[in-house]
Amino acid sequence: MDLSTEYMGLKLANPLAASAGPLCMDTEKVRQLADAGIAAVVLASLFEEQIQQDSEQLEYFLNYGADRFAESLSYYPDMGDFQSGPQQYLDHIAALKKAVDIPVIASLNGVSDTGWTDYAGQVESAGADAIELNVNFLPTNPKICGELVEGAHTAIVDSVVQTVSIPVAVKMSPFFSAPAAMAKKLVDAGAKGLVLFNRFYQPDINVETMDVTPQLDLSTSQENRLPLRWIAILRGRVKASLAASTGIHTAEDAAKMILAGADVVMMTSALLKNGPTHAAAVLDGLVEILRAKEYESIDRMRGVLSHANCSEPGAFERANYLKTIGGFKPTGTRE
Ligand SMILES: Cc1cc2nc3c(=O)[nH]c(=O)nc-3n(C[C@H](O)[C@H](O)[C@H](O)COP(=O)(O)O)c2cc1C
Repeated sequence: MDLSTEYMGLKLANPLAASAGPLCMDTEKVRQLADAGIAAVVLASLFEEQIQQDSEQLEYFLNYGADRFAESLSYYPDMGDFQSGPQQYLDHIAALKKAVDIPVIASLNGVSDTGWTDYAGQVESAGADAIELNVNFLPTNPKICGELVEGAHTAIVDSVVQTVSIPVAVKMSPFFSAPAAMAKKLVDAGAKGLVLFNRFYQPDINVETMDVTPQLDLSTSQENRLPLRWIAILRGRVKASLAASTGIHTAEDAAKMILAGADVVMMTSALLKNGPTHAAAVLDGLVEILRAKEYESIDRMRGVLSHANCSEPGAFERANYLKTIGGFKPTGTRE
């Protein structure tokens, strides 16, 4: 069975990648992931706040989107000290490149388009095969309009692609008012890949302690419908590789994303829950599905149910909304 896949020009043995998270910051775990068949790893993000560049633009965003800073500090609680600074990050890239023979994708998290982009060049020099931009900007100030937020994203892409020659992907937020237009703007700015979607952690309130608590729950398969829909819509509409992220836990989840048009499928929660060897089970399951459906390669299956190829594209759109709601049959309600 031919599972070979191309992602932003990188040749992968199969479409299964480990998305940014703690496993990818542990060399031994990455070795285990590679042994289990994972075809690429994305490192946890190097955060702009960690780089602590005294950039005017960072000041601007931190002041105007004040809550964003607090949010990003509590964004990934309990992640230990594996992200303690840029030098350790660069050293980790170099160590992984020696330890495994799969592409290593660095992830940068920031909001400004100056200062920290220097690190894009440094991760490239350290051996990263590609860069994923995890732009995490919560515009809490009502004076910050969508245009400014979109412009900040494209400016970051623009400055990073001018700094490096390795491919750059953007891990997109699902909260743009026009995701397809935004996807195109990012690609026009130079993004070679789009990761759909970033999964933002929503804080909770503890009523007993009267505190706001950062809450990180691992995903479930139910959450993959949002990326599934947008992968299907964007397939063939933007000239970039598409990576599906969020809620991919099983071989069936992975197969759905490929059918919708994903070039690669990424996992974090499933690997944290089940351990690195889960990748082998997912790949075995994927091969079984391909055999059962009589596809001789993953390429044949890719995008078969994308918007462009689907006989009922309305199923991915609002046209189906009323039909779906109307067709709902309540169960368990009292007569
Ligand atoms: C503990 C943990 C740490 C994470 N760290 C990062 C990170 O540093 N950068 C990033 O872009 N995403 C990070 N993520 C998000 C994942 O890469 C992924 O996009 C998200 O968990 C959704 O995928 P999943 O459903 O497979 O978990 C993290 C997720 C978890 C659970």
